[in-house]
Amino acid sequence: MSSTPTIKLLIADDMDELRSNVRRMLKNQDNIRIVAEARNGRETIDMVKEMQPHIVLMDINMPELDGLKASEILAKDFPNVQTVIMSIQSEQEYFRRAMKAGAKDFLVKPFSTSDLVDTINNVFNSWLKDRPDLFANEPSADILTFFATKGGVGRTTLAVNLAASLAIKGKKTLLVDASLQFGDVGITLNLAAKRTISNVVEAGEISFADIEKNITRHECGLDILLAPREPALAEAIKTEHLLRIIDAARPFYNFIIFDMPPMITEKELAILDRSTMVLLVATLEISSLKNTKICLKTFSDINYDMSKVKLLLNKEIPNVGIGKSDLEAGLAIPVYATVPMESEIAQRSLNQGELIVLKSPASGIGRSILGMAERLAGTRNVPETGKSAILKIKDLLFGSN
Ligand SMILES: Nc1ncnc2c1ncn2[C@@H]1O[C@H](COP(=O)(O)OP(=O)(O)OP(=O)(O)O)[C@@H](O)[C@H]1O
Ligand SMILES: [Mg+2]
Repeated sequence: MSSTPTIKLLIADDMDELRSNVRRMLKNQDNIRIVAEARNGRETIDMVKEMQPHIVLMDINMPELDGLKASEILAKDFPNVQTVIMSIQSEQEYFRRAMKAGAKDFLVKPFSTSDLVDTINNVFNSWLKDRPDLFANEPSADILTFFATKGGVGRTTLAVNLAASLAIKGKKTLLVDASLQFGDVGITLNLAAKRTISNVVEAGEISFADIEKNITRHECGLDILLAPREPALAEAIKTEHLLRIIDAARPFYNFIIFDMPPMITEKELAILDRSTMVLLVATLEISSLKNTKICLKTFSDINYDMSKVKLLLNKEIPNVGIGKSDLEAGLAIPVYATVPMESEIAQRSLNQGELIVLKSPASGIGRSILGMAERLAGTRNVPETGKSAILKIKDLLFGSN
């Protein structure tokens, strides 16, 4: 698991203007995410329960339940949440009362961006120093991207089943259908696209709450962000939106899995850039091998970190003239995992909108994907199937390079 520290922040203030000022001040702070906003003490307590922020920026004078009382409740019921009090009062008395209520620091309004950023970082860092164990257990999602530059190789089948397997194992997992024009995740799982990624980008700023509202939850526990309902709507989803979705969702999941379209444009590159692992799907067809080879060359040309790229052989079938070792030799990269060709199982599960890992866990496809999930979830230490060294490119398949 990666462990980039992302600070989850809740802003509690009844003044809309103050909240939007804070949002603006923190816009360029990549390590700070505003996960929720509240307008009174009562709402703050509810939001803390739901969103589990690290830090609450708390105004003192709020309706229903004031900031000092809310801070006392937080200190008692949520001792890991760090409260920073904001007030226009600079008097010692307020400062003293805030500290007594359990606050870790105090900001006098109006404050500058650097005051705000420094205070948040200082409070978080001293908490981290005291309790590194707590942060170690915080999720910061690994981003797995199923990619291929040829269509029909099985990205959606594998992405959906791997994501579901991780969710079934208790890993908080989000599957994003990034095939924005012709996404198949909904139909593959027999889910109606009531809310999609289009609704998320309408929100503009994109907080985790905007994502959460538009997630479709599969019965296995998997969260899914479906592709737009129509190809024309894909245009409205920009690279910037995809990056904001990743950043906002990352602190809340163990895994974020992308099902990608068969192309490399700015959007795909942005997702690939953020990915911790790229599962490059290939089959034993000469056209798939050719495209995979071009794809690997493109990655290398753009200096992509090749250690993140794992080759996934799907639809493995014997006696078709090309085998796994030819693939490894031809592409000069080891096979990370192999999924056998089982057309009847794959087709039936697709037509019935069912997961192979639930319906046919003992099938070859089922076992392979469940094994991969175990490996990724770290519950079993399975050695990689591939050989370690970069293999020589075989003239047989591709000629000399
Ligand atoms: N291991 C497998 N054995 C047999 N058939 C498979 C296997 N994996 C996938 N398929 C079948 O291959 C077809 C394409 O699969 P899928 O839609 O997952 O591919 P894709 O790469 O996402 O395609 P697209 O380019 O349309 O997004 C489907 O009919 C699926 O059932
Ligand atoms: Mg697909």
